[in-house]
Amino acid sequence: MAYYYEEASRTFSEYLLVPNLTTKQCTPANVDLKTPISKFKRDEQPEIELNIPFTSAVMQAVSDDRMAVALAQNGGLAFLFGSQSIESQAEMVRKVKGYKAGFVVSRSNLTPDHTLQDVLDLKELNGHSTVAVTEDGTPTGKLLGIVTSRDYRISRDKLDKPVREFMTPFSSLIYGKAGLSLKEANDLIWEHKLNTLPVIDENQRLTHLVFRKDYDRNKEYPNELLDGNKRYRVGAGINTKDYLNRVPALVEAGVDVLVIDSSDGYSEWQADTVKYVKENFNVKIGAGNVVDREGFLYLVQSGADFIKVGIGGGSICITREQKGIGRGQASAVQEVVKARDEYFEETGVYIPICSDGGIVHDYHVTLALAMGADFVMLGRYFARFDESPTKKLKVGGNFVKEYWGEGSNRARNWERYDTGGKQTLLFEEGVDSYVPYAGSLKENLDKTLGKIKSTMCNCGSLSIAELQRKARITLVSATSLVEGGAHDVILKENTSFSAD
Ligand code: IMP
Repeated sequence: MAYYYEEASRTFSEYLLVPNLTTKQCTPANVDLKTPISKFKRDEQPEIELNIPFTSAVMQAVSDDRMAVALAQNGGLAFLFGSQSIESQAEMVRKVKGYKAGFVVSRSNLTPDHTLQDVLDLKELNGHSTVAVTEDGTPTGKLLGIVTSRDYRISRDKLDKPVREFMTPFSSLIYGKAGLSLKEANDLIWEHKLNTLPVIDENQRLTHLVFRKDYDRNKEYPNELLDGNKRYRVGAGINTKDYLNRVPALVEAGVDVLVIDSSDGYSEWQADTVKYVKENFNVKIGAGNVVDREGFLYLVQSGADFIKVGIGGGSICITREQKGIGRGQASAVQEVVKARDEYFEETGVYIPICSDGGIVHDYHVTLALAMGADFVMLGRYFARFDESPTKKLKVGGNFVKEYWGEGSNRARNWERYDTGGKQTLLFEEGVDSYVPYAGSLKENLDKTLGKIKSTMCNCGSLSIAELQRKARITLVSATSLVEGGAHDVILKENTSFSAD
């Protein structure tokens, strides 16, 4: 006879925290959000910690090298999406590890054949007043000129005027040569009174732009997540199919933490993958996703450094509807945390737990931590920001960004699923959607972190570990059904927006 759980499975929205005494030392400024991401023995320090309990989802629409830099600057870690070629994922790792503050890859690019109208459209979309003009319109094409608002007058110039006729041509540009330091770049900017310095390689191809306004901003990241060589830390998603080739390439490129990306991680494939990585490389690896004690213990015994929890709670996820597997996210976290705490008691080894998916409100993060998760993984949250890799569009007068699941046909990520050996998805487990555009990562994250710290003070806690010990949590109602379907996104198939 089947086993029946006695309790219904519950989600974060069904719980609230009950405040404890707030002492006078308990102010948001005194709260420390450092948290472990790799297992460690009692009385020892974890080898890798996050400065804030945030990681970004292993998704095409969320985690590329730009997101990885932005998140590391703010103390968290991105897991670069794995549904791309091994070479391009390794290249992203290299870009993050080689990132030099102040050197940005150009986001607004056109060819000389584009028009003034194209410049204005791009300006409205990206908010940048500097457009690089390259031979092929790519951020790393041969640099032919630059357009800024000083180069045209909308009242006089016709909107169909080609860019080549009003851009500042390469021959008149001051530029830096690839390899120069930020200080040298800034010296050129000041000496020539520039707003933007293009940097080119030996073939005149654009590599970066350096902006005058960024100079001070580069000192603004007191919480940066750095490795021992002062480079940003970066994670990467892997799968259980091509790990024999993918993992060596990622390690060679300098990746700090791997995670196996799968909707159901309680499998022999995952155990094999974890064992291979632990036997052959000195790199951290997380495994999952699981939603119960058995899944947790199985992956821990195979050697995983952290365990990821959650099936079916993601905003774009339709796994529960399609396959009928999953568990309310709060119940899953609670059971796995209990298993983790017992395992710690017995063995003295602490296994960090990541709550993945289904975070809708900022307070859900605090609840996940209070329930015993050490950090969270978020997709929808980060997809809304400037730094996510997807297009920003204007839909019905509002700006949105695209956000699609790794199990949608669009992602073509068959490695993530058990497809019976076929290199195609048999059915979708994710939707293609829009999320409201929300601005810059830093602005939003600072607000979210402010809320978390403030709630922690309500609970009389100055660290995540203290919150986990002291939290008092109450059930409020049963609304977990909402989490089972696509939620908090605008489904594309039900809308008739245009992309202008
Ligand atoms: P969100 O933060 O609620 O948007 O959830 C993000 C999480 O959803 C990811 O970290 C994955 O665990 C999960 N996920 C990503 N793509 C899919 C999909 O297509 N189907 C089901 N789950 C997905």
